[in-house]
Amino acid sequence: MVTSADRATSRRVAPDPEAVAAARSVFDRDLDDGGLPVAEVVALLTEHGTPATVHSTGGRYFGFVTGGTLPAARAASVVAGEWDQNVALPAMSPIASILDTVAARWVRDLLGLPEGATVTFCAGASVANTTALTAARDAVLARVGHDVVADGLVAAPPVTVITSAEAHASIDKAVGAIGLGRDNVVRVPTDPTGALRADEVPEVGGPTIVILQAGNVNTGAMDPMDPLVAELRAAGAWVHIDGAFGAWAAASPSRRHLVAGMADADSWASDAHKWLNTPYDAGICAVRDPADLRRSFSTDAAYLTPEGADRALMHLGPQMSQRARGIEVWAALASLGRDGVADLVDRCCDLAARAAASLRTGGAEVLAPVSLNQVLVAFGEDSTTDAVVAAVQADGRTWAGATTWRGRRAMRFSVSSWASTVADVDASVAAILDVRDQVTAD
Ligand SMILES: Cc1ncc(COP(=O)(O)O)c(C=O)c1O
Repeated sequence: MVTSADRATSRRVAPDPEAVAAARSVFDRDLDDGGLPVAEVVALLTEHGTPATVHSTGGRYFGFVTGGTLPAARAASVVAGEWDQNVALPAMSPIASILDTVAARWVRDLLGLPEGATVTFCAGASVANTTALTAARDAVLARVGHDVVADGLVAAPPVTVITSAEAHASIDKAVGAIGLGRDNVVRVPTDPTGALRADEVPEVGGPTIVILQAGNVNTGAMDPMDPLVAELRAAGAWVHIDGAFGAWAAASPSRRHLVAGMADADSWASDAHKWLNTPYDAGICAVRDPADLRRSFSTDAAYLTPEGADRALMHLGPQMSQRARGIEVWAALASLGRDGVADLVDRCCDLAARAAASLRTGGAEVLAPVSLNQVLVAFGEDSTTDAVVAAVQADGRTWAGATTWRGRRAMRFSVSSWASTVADVDASVAAILDVRDQVTAD
């Protein structure tokens, strides 16, 4: 049997450019009038498509915050594909509804969210942010007597949106998409680690949404949540936490302290396809009071079954038809168990710390404290750092992305995969330093 580790050592992480060109020449053509036999379709994909993939399921991919795929979750996605169940309404698939409901309860429990909170699965944290912030907008305006769902935003009182100066780009997308205006957002300065400064949060009054971050996408730093979240809620704000990856710190007894206060919020966004290592796409949206999701998203039509006691995802988010993402989440959690999830989080954090220490020893500059699974390094001037990152990506032994932080270009090395081992990290750091030496020798 070929293990993930074998695959990681025996193939490039980024695909060979020639394989990409070959795939393009095979696939990029006009649609034929006649169809192909199924076996030929599959053969084309595996023969020409697979070599052009990025090996992000292996242990040496450290790009973006991309989790691998746990074996059980990968297998479940094949089963789920075969089942092809629509989880919009329980009547559409009893089994999908059961697994979705159980997976949602397990996620709520692992993330330490309040018992009454509703967890739903969606396309990703961007969609989860947009869904939760829609509910937030409608809720804070309902409190002042404005019904956005019926009357729209045209005559609505203004809503103040407050977030970190280093909020994730998906927050901008969400705030713009729900009509609150990206340029209206109040951006609170951050401390040297990238966490929002609690002492800079303005006084809250009127309809207000505060968006905090569990896990700065560059540094992994957590915005301060305890007691800030509870205080902001007590002052009347709706508090949303974007915890796309960082919320999973709650699942580790040794890291849980990092997200103290997170559970006091009104809504949360996270991902299963990042740190939980399910296949794409699987986002997580959670809202303290399900009535707030229903206010924004519940709908009716003669052909639909009315909402009963069972949760019906089509009334809890923007999608109606949707694949049953809870199947893979259920499989991932069932295979790991509570201890396995904690171990996954801890291992990634420990490997990030190891990578940072080795890179520093090798002469790279670590730009921010490593408090979670993210490592930011520079290799001198911005142009040198960019050249090293590009050369590492082309080299194929490992893969990490580039970013700008505090005005410096940096390599962002994110440890998010169950498949990454000490050997993978050590080999990847050695490859990065080797490439750095080649680049700087030129
Ligand atoms: C903090 C944060 N929020 C939101 C997102 C968006 O997640 P997705 O790509 O699943 O939509 C990311 C992705 O990296 C993230 O790190």
